[in-house]
Amino acid sequence: MSYFIVIYAFKNRKVLSLKLRRKKNKTMEIIEILREASKRIYENVKELAGTEDAAGDFGRGAGGDISRNIDIIAEKTVLDYLKEINFECIVLGEECGRVELSKNSKGFVIMDAIDGSANAVRGVPFFCSSLAFAIEDKLSSITDGVITNLSNGDMYWASKDKGAFLNKSKIKVHDKEPIYKIIGINTSGATPELMKKLHPIFEQHNHIRHFGANALEMAFFARGIIDIFIDLRNKIRVQDIAAGYIIVKEAGGLLLDADLNLLDTDLSYKTRISFIAASNQKIIDDIISQIKK
Ligand code: IPD
Ligand code: CA
Repeated sequence: MSYFIVIYAFKNRKVLSLKLRRKKNKTMEIIEILREASKRIYENVKELAGTEDAAGDFGRGAGGDISRNIDIIAEKTVLDYLKEINFECIVLGEECGRVELSKNSKGFVIMDAIDGSANAVRGVPFFCSSLAFAIEDKLSSITDGVITNLSNGDMYWASKDKGAFLNKSKIKVHDKEPIYKIIGINTSGATPELMKKLHPIFEQHNHIRHFGANALEMAFFARGIIDIFIDLRNKIRVQDIAAGYIIVKEAGGLLLDADLNLLDTDLSYKTRISFIAASNQKIIDDIISQIKK
């Protein structure tokens, strides 16, 4: 075989593999891309949580918190995968900030590769990854979202108008009077003023919960095992709630801001959010009537 035949075969193989990659890209739904990226995070970090290695300090990330080794590994997993499949998008990562993977972007991948980093570093088995896709610079333009519980691999996912799922099963928020009403309230770092306002809720309800990873708590709400989830601290970032936003909506939940308007915001790093996720207006009215003015 001559030298030229070898060169020709090699060049053709290259062309062929590029075509396959492009074809794969075209046929892959966005939700499949997010699911695969999320699965890869789980594979790469599942043995790391709670180890000394998870904690390594990489300075402050774009979201303002210290980036830990486990955060960096999880984000790199997603960025590497999106590059591998040539997904044309802009990534808005909690640690890495805005990363333009293409000049011809189809939209934004909003990434909190590890939500509940403190739990992940200490080994408390309640942390997750949150990946969402938005067409525009707005929460309400999110079309797809995936939250993976990184302590057991459970995957919550939803696409606009197609319903919400936990692994292969469809999920819905809990819309009936429950045996035990479970109220999720994020009070981490809440001001004394906010604690005062919320105090009547703590007095009147025995089953108040906060687990330390907003995205996974939204997924639990969407699945119907928490009846309402409240975060009025004005601290949460878009990255923490983007996937939860579409999963809650597709599971039939209501998402309101602190003024009880439908929740929406831009995707800026500066934006901080308060929100209430509830299954119906009645439970919102009940709780709101208990919050002190
Ligand atoms: C945190 C979690 C936590 C909330 C914090 C967030 P992170 O996200 O969602 O529940 O109380 O405000 O910062 O920093 O672990 O991605
Ligand atoms: Ca995070």
